[in-house]
Amino acid sequence: MEKIRSFSESIDVTNKRIILRADFNVPILNEIIQDKTRIDLSIPFIQNLLKKKAKVIIISHLGRPKNLKDKSLSLKSVFNYLKEKIDSKIFFYSDKVTNETQKKISFLNANEVIFFENIRFNEGEVKNDDEFAKNLSSIGDIYINDAFSCSHRKQASIHKITKYIGNSYAGPLFMKEILSINSILDDKKNPTTCIVGGSKISTKIGVITSLIKKVDNLIIVGAMANNFIKFKGNKIGKSLIEPGSEKFIKEIYDTAHKNNCEIVIPFDFAVSETTDGNANFKGLKDVADQDIILDIGPRTIEKIKKIIDVSKTVLWNGPAGYFENQNFMKGTISIAEKISSNTRLKSLISIVGGGDTISAIKNNALDVNFTHLSTAGGAFLEYIEGKNLPGVEVLK
Ligand code: 3PG
Repeated sequence: MEKIRSFSESIDVTNKRIILRADFNVPILNEIIQDKTRIDLSIPFIQNLLKKKAKVIIISHLGRPKNLKDKSLSLKSVFNYLKEKIDSKIFFYSDKVTNETQKKISFLNANEVIFFENIRFNEGEVKNDDEFAKNLSSIGDIYINDAFSCSHRKQASIHKITKYIGNSYAGPLFMKEILSINSILDDKKNPTTCIVGGSKISTKIGVITSLIKKVDNLIIVGAMANNFIKFKGNKIGKSLIEPGSEKFIKEIYDTAHKNNCEIVIPFDFAVSETTDGNANFKGLKDVADQDIILDIGPRTIEKIKKIIDVSKTVLWNGPAGYFENQNFMKGTISIAEKISSNTRLKSLISIVGGGDTISAIKNNALDVNFTHLSTAGGAFLEYIEGKNLPGVEVLK
């Protein structure tokens, strides 16, 4: 693989304006940050740059604003959190990025930070606009992308900016993600098991099709499994389904057959008539018209644990059930604990990723241990799928 230009300690940042592209796309409800993992992971590097007397300019997006001044997608709460955590002076820049921005922030001293408002409030960002990228690049001397999780986006602060700034590098978190995923993909020990959950099969079809060719077992859980259960001729009641998924599923089974990959789908469930209800446990033949499948059942959990026990590499993305309701968390928690305990026992190497998977683990304050816990969702999947990510390519 072509080498990625990574930021190293020997690069002189003293008095230099460092544009740090971070991923602070975190869940925020009524101005309260629900999961600070991504921010907390970024803080040591910010502190390291400040210690070396850099002028740090932080850029991130939040959500996908339709209206370019959507207050609910302001990064102000993240700024306030960083202010508590970082000793240096930190300013908030709420204006749009124009050719005037460079002048407007020229007051910034060494060992100080400017934190920019949601970069997607600028229309040039998502369009990967040339002029916008030029203006953005003019505010810094060095660009560091430490947002691997955004690097599947061909957007100005990830992609086009590197055209106008000579010194561009990947940051430490970015490199950790890439190196961990590579080490598992390149040196994986078999048998390999991949567990894919979540609700939408269409968003994961690419990664599933590509993984089938590389892994021994593919376990499908979460609401996306409903499509497989139905495809096999079973009743799924009122469970979530994606119309038109039959053609993907047929293709998945055909490819699995050709590549000797065993596909495992749930065969007992926790169901309820509403998502906020209690769990009733049912077998494959007992699902009634009013039932919604909301988690995998105990027999499926046991089967998954057995497969994990004989696996040497496990890759997991996406929860096994509707973890937002405590009654339907059992599947997700059991998978997390089993992978973690086998990782501790060193009987396997594990890579776990996806925003929902991490939220489910965090919400339960589980004491778990994985070889690599990725904070990237879509980027993690596309990278595993073997796609060239725009934000990675420009750093080679
Ligand atoms: C993520 O949360 O996966 C990244 O921040 C990318 O966000 P996006 O899907 O809105 O581009």
